[in-house]
Amino acid sequence: MSLLITGGTGYIGSHTVVELQALASKQGTEQDIVIVDDLSNSSTKVLDRIKQITHKTVTFIKADICDYDAMKAVFEQHDIEAVIHFAGHKAVGESNEKPLSYYYNNVSGTVILLRVMAEQNVKKLVFSSSATVYGDNVSPLNETMPTSATNPYGQTKLMVEHILFDLAKSDSDWSIACLRYFNPIGAHNSGLIGENPNGIPNNLLPYVAQVAVGRLAQLQVFGDDYDTVDGTGVRDYIHVVDLAQGHVKALQNLDKISGCKAINLGTGNGTSVLEIVNTFKEISGQDIPYKIVPRRAGDLATVYANADLANELLDWQATRNLHTMIEDTWRWQSENPQGF
Ligand code: NAD
Ligand code: UFG
Repeated sequence: MSLLITGGTGYIGSHTVVELQALASKQGTEQDIVIVDDLSNSSTKVLDRIKQITHKTVTFIKADICDYDAMKAVFEQHDIEAVIHFAGHKAVGESNEKPLSYYYNNVSGTVILLRVMAEQNVKKLVFSSSATVYGDNVSPLNETMPTSATNPYGQTKLMVEHILFDLAKSDSDWSIACLRYFNPIGAHNSGLIGENPNGIPNNLLPYVAQVAVGRLAQLQVFGDDYDTVDGTGVRDYIHVVDLAQGHVKALQNLDKISGCKAINLGTGNGTSVLEIVNTFKEISGQDIPYKIVPRRAGDLATVYANADLANELLDWQATRNLHTMIEDTWRWQSENPQGF
């Protein structure tokens, strides 16, 4: 039996493939993995790096999840038992400029994948949702809070969540973990895989890392007048390997989940932009020039998780601290200054 990982050559997907193989090795078993990715935001070089880390080969299929025939062929040619669905576009700013591309890829693409899964009677799914679905609720954020979205990207995550809840309600054979990620950062400690954004990064950590390595001149800190410890925005940064291990635990515990469950994957701790900058400076030994600029539209002051449900249902909690997250980010960035 194989696991299908859509978006498996991307940032979180590649780390999850490594953790799935690590678990199989620990258990002395083999895990067949099929990655489907259209390479719109990743490269096949990731596959060589995964092999260097795990000494295992995965099956790679270049395909678009929006292509029904291609997805059907994947299920017909491989004995898939469950799917972890990472594939999607993820840039909030770009989603305002290209809403149709986001709704088509993230929502229509997921509906096509679900349709093929239902037809092939594969009804176990782990889905990449986001803390963005909490809108402007006050942190700590827990899974019972009302959801909302303020941009097309967030809407796509919310729409897919609604689709998954409706699907599970219509057919009790489905087991779905809808994992709401907080802010994934860091990299595998081998320094071989990590986040490799196209163009100028939108997110804080890749931006800071590229300033530290000399690719970008200066960080812009979006606002220092929030009601937080030092006036800058506070987020719940989580090590991507902890996040990947959360997916492994979700898969292992899918049988305990009847229907569809939304589950936070965060640390429960908040860190400000300036705390990130100062820790990065200390660990890398590099100067990180920055300038305070006005707030970014749509940003909240403080976002962090209540991570109790993941602990209860999945027996999972994040274990890596901020120091490790930044040390691993810096190893990846300094050893791969231009990415893969
Ligand atoms: P990523 O861009 O590195 O990985 C996504 C992968 O999906 C890429 O390799 C891309 O080529 C592929 N892809 C996109 N559209 C596709 C399609 N139609 N068919 C096949 N492959 C396709 O992003 P990531 O950071 O690894 O994020 C993975 C998932 O987690 C996404 O759904 C994202 O929205 C969600 N998420 C990410 C974050 C974050 O901060 N990184 C936070 C919350 C949720
Ligand atoms: N920030 C800066 N300068 C930058 C980039 C970011 O000061 O160049 C600040 C932001 O204002 C915010 C913090 O750094 O206070 C984190 O910003 P990110 O863009 O890294 O992350 P966000 O929390 O805004 O958003 C991320 C993902 C979204 C996801 C959300 C879930 O990008 O896709 O987390 O909580 F929905």
